[in-house]
Amino acid sequence: VVADAAWRDEVRRLADERDAVLLAHNYQLPEIQDIADHTGDSLALSRIAANSSASTIVFCGVHFMAETAKILSPDKTVLIPDARAGCSLADSITADELRAWKAEHPGAVVVSYVNTTAEVKAETDICCTSSNAVDVVASIPADREVLFLPDQFLGAHVKRVTGRENLHIWAGECHVHAGINGPELAERAAANPDADLYIHPECGCATSALYLAGEGIVPSEQVKILSTGDMVGQAKASKAKTVLVATEVGMLHQLRKAAPGVDFQAVNDRASCRYMKMITPAAVLRALRENADEVHVDPETARKARGAVQRMIEIGT
Ligand code: 13P
Ligand code: SF4
Repeated sequence: VVADAAWRDEVRRLADERDAVLLAHNYQLPEIQDIADHTGDSLALSRIAANSSASTIVFCGVHFMAETAKILSPDKTVLIPDARAGCSLADSITADELRAWKAEHPGAVVVSYVNTTAEVKAETDICCTSSNAVDVVASIPADREVLFLPDQFLGAHVKRVTGRENLHIWAGECHVHAGINGPELAERAAANPDADLYIHPECGCATSALYLAGEGIVPSEQVKILSTGDMVGQAKASKAKTVLVATEVGMLHQLRKAAPGVDFQAVNDRASCRYMKMITPAAVLRALRENADEVHVDPETARKARGAVQRMIEIGT
């Protein structure tokens, strides 16, 4: 299947016929981003899924995102074009592991990144995404212990910004972002001294970027730790001619569309998420033709998880 005009017409025709809204994460293939009704970060897409009047949601992203849409809209049909599109970060903690961790910290507030399974969300007090993690933690009374999971780099970022000592962090990571390393970033920053750095907080190099800023190697106003949606907002207002981007490479498409005059360069051009890339043009067509793969969440698990996800979409801009 080639993403040509015939493919685009067929996808749009089937979406209309099925009363389906197509949502695409910023890491999707460019042709998938361009055919979608909405492209955005995890938080924006969750909010759109919750408020959409369409009877079917086709989630072009990974499984936990489609599951989150189903938790918010249990009466809608939620499809993911390939149910095998998982997430290494979501796999880094199980519900049993979380229950054991909670038992060690009775009374702690559990904050889970949206990159978790529905079963983990069901054991959670408030979910967050990279764009509202700081706001979510700041909304918790200062004297309460917080268990933050599963991403250690996002957790370290939140701890740094909030200055919160009673925040415990799970040692999970995303294999794509953890692989964008500090030395690589330092080398690229040294070769492009005027470039802004856009860094996703899941990156292993986020700490190095702050070190570069702290040591005066890169002016601190050039270092920006951002969710994928906030990167697009920042790009639109960019004064820098060159921006080094530390996140999954699918992000470059939206950035280049948002600011065609800026030279966006990947810090690591091998940082591609194989799960995100399972959503191919052929898979989208099949999803609409065959009503597959349908996402199911056990109703009792969804009921327990819903409050935490609803709190997430209410907090932050
Ligand atoms: P955001 O789009 O919320 O920044 O999340 C990044 C991510 O890794 C999703 O898998
Ligand atoms: Fe998960 Fe990482 Fe892929 Fe995002 S980029 S879906 S966090 S494996």
